[in-house]
Amino acid sequence: MATPRKPIISGNWKMNHNHFEAIQCVQKLHYRLDVDDHENVDVSVHPPFTDIRSIQTVIESDKMKILIGAQNCYFEQKGAFTGEVSAPMLAKLNVTHVIVGHSERREIFGETDEDVNKKVKAVLGNEMTPILCCGETLEEREAGRAEAKVEGQILAGLAGVTKAHVASMVIAYEPIWAIGTGRTATSEDAQNMCAFIRGVVAEACGAEQAEAVRIQYGGSVKPGNIAELMAQPDIDGALVGGASLEADEFAAIVQYRNH
Ligand code: 13P
Repeated sequence: MATPRKPIISGNWKMNHNHFEAIQCVQKLHYRLDVDDHENVDVSVHPPFTDIRSIQTVIESDKMKILIGAQNCYFEQKGAFTGEVSAPMLAKLNVTHVIVGHSERREIFGETDEDVNKKVKAVLGNEMTPILCCGETLEEREAGRAEAKVEGQILAGLAGVTKAHVASMVIAYEPIWAIGTGRTATSEDAQNMCAFIRGVVAEACGAEQAEAVRIQYGGSVKPGNIAELMAQPDIDGALVGGASLEADEFAAIVQYRNH
């Protein structure tokens, strides 16, 4: 029997908003969202590390339902890794969701599938939820290699992860050519790839796990295209970059049911 999957919409702020701006943004977002929104959709924000403690304080003191996220972490627990932040450090700040293997980390900072797999395990091992990212370049899509690329990233990312953990995870499909370009995948293309990803998970980890795992689409998601994306059967949410920086715009995305 199909498991009802609660949608999850996540704001990846990337390297934007200092801690003052972060507090303002979260307060405004909280003001714009009501109880029903939170009942219908999980909402997480993923600020830079330097903002997390500040927004945690505001979120917890006002009992906000916004979930605290991070954009990355290192896979080791602690030690001589200058400049890195560990999963236990994030868990201590009540971070619940950590983006892992974003294409910007892979392309700009050289993260490999193996690094991504270790990070997935570190996040799960600290009782947080990884948002495992995958997606192809334009060149790969045009050469007909999109599915092979995504399948490889998913299989490598999930290698050795227990079935129960897979079911609890979030996967984000973000075609690289749609990120920050204003060029969204058509809802049909996005649906096709998200259905393909669910099939890959079913094959590798079991049908029940595939039915439970939540799959987000990311890449130029805006208030104007979210409803159509969310209407697709295998799209369970969105990973939003630019449009998550403005609380009004992000709230309008979370409230896609009202459009
Ligand atoms: P944009 O929404 O700005 O295209 O970014 C998508 C993204 O990379 C989210 O992780």
